[in-house]
Amino acid sequence: MDALATPAAQLLGSRYPIIQTAMGWVSTSRLLIASSRAGAFGFLACAVMSPEEAEREIRAVLDAVDAPFGVNFHAFQPGAERIVDLLIDHGVRAVSYGRAPSPKLIEKLKGRGVLCVPTIGAGKHARKAVDLGADLIVCQGGEGGGHTGVTPTLLLLAQTLDAVSVPVIAAGGFRDGRGLAAALAFGAAGIAMGTRFMLTADSPTPTATKERYLAAEVSKIPVSTKLDGLPQRMVMNETLAKLERTGRLAMLARGLWNGWRFRAATGASLPAFAKSAWAMAKGGGLSFPQALMAANAPMIIKRSMVDGRPDQGVLPSGQVAGLIGDLPSCEELVARIVADAEARIGALPTRGAEPTRLGHKESSHAH
Ligand SMILES: Cc1cc2nc3c(=O)[nH]c(=O)nc-3n(C[C@H](O)[C@H](O)[C@H](O)COP(=O)(O)O)c2cc1C
Repeated sequence: MDALATPAAQLLGSRYPIIQTAMGWVSTSRLLIASSRAGAFGFLACAVMSPEEAEREIRAVLDAVDAPFGVNFHAFQPGAERIVDLLIDHGVRAVSYGRAPSPKLIEKLKGRGVLCVPTIGAGKHARKAVDLGADLIVCQGGEGGGHTGVTPTLLLLAQTLDAVSVPVIAAGGFRDGRGLAAALAFGAAGIAMGTRFMLTADSPTPTATKERYLAAEVSKIPVSTKLDGLPQRMVMNETLAKLERTGRLAMLARGLWNGWRFRAATGASLPAFAKSAWAMAKGGGLSFPQALMAANAPMIIKRSMVDGRPDQGVLPSGQVAGLIGDLPSCEELVARIVADAEARIGALPTRGAEPTRLGHKESSHAH
């Protein structure tokens, strides 16, 4: 029996049950081409792209690899509907999305056979995600990078597995074959990794920024709400320390100014920008000031992730960065994860281990 031929790998059409997640300004065609050649399933980070840029990136992947791949988008980003049409036209296999998906867009995607792979950060969202159309669920525990919840990966995975019957992918804190073997033994259909794929030779993240991540310690990658009003895990640096000290009014003023500049960068018109901020506020459960802060965040993230100034921007990261000390190619990384996972699974005793659903009592808390 091939333990790695999971239902998730079969549905997605990838060689291994390993997902390279979407990370703004990191999960570009360059990273995706490398991770999918290595046998993982990659998601392009289109939530921070204009429709034109998204199309260029989708075409770049299609020109380079035959393997299926996915696109990450946000229902309230400017041009979301165009991005959905684009990915349908180009035969993209799957979409990933987080907070506040649009039922209308999901219905359209499902109608065209695109797999829906939402990420959830709390057990209570698992059933709702399936009701809205999830074919697979990625559950990201609190130790994961970027926007994140409070439930640790192991507990969230148990809650999610108890709550749904679609394949569940574990995320948050994974970096090696031990993690993959453990997740599969736990009942997951695979793992999804962000930080580990960012810290490869193939990611477009500038070298100075990667070095700052490699030097990070597990205990110094806290969660802060000061970037965009939502809990987000980032490496503690000069910029995050400053944000933590900034008052609400100053943050709003900066939100307005940078939101305006981001509007120019995405090519959205002023009414489109205002519409998207309002939609984000309403649909995303954010206040309008929070939505403005969210519009501000990209400018600060780009300083580190694109301009290569890790001191001047923020560094979204999983705590796992504190356990990562090298920058392998995706090929090398995936090969060693797979070899180690197979060796560990092969070394387990094979008899007398009937799966049980112990812990069912806890599952009631997931609702
Ligand atoms: C630098 C960075 C940027 C991210 N950007 C996004 C994003 O644009 N959209 C998204 O859905 N998740 C984003 N995430 C979350 C990841 O897709 C993924 O769920 C998370 O990194 C998993 O945890 P891990 O880092 O411990 O592997 C980001 C994470 C990081 C580290």
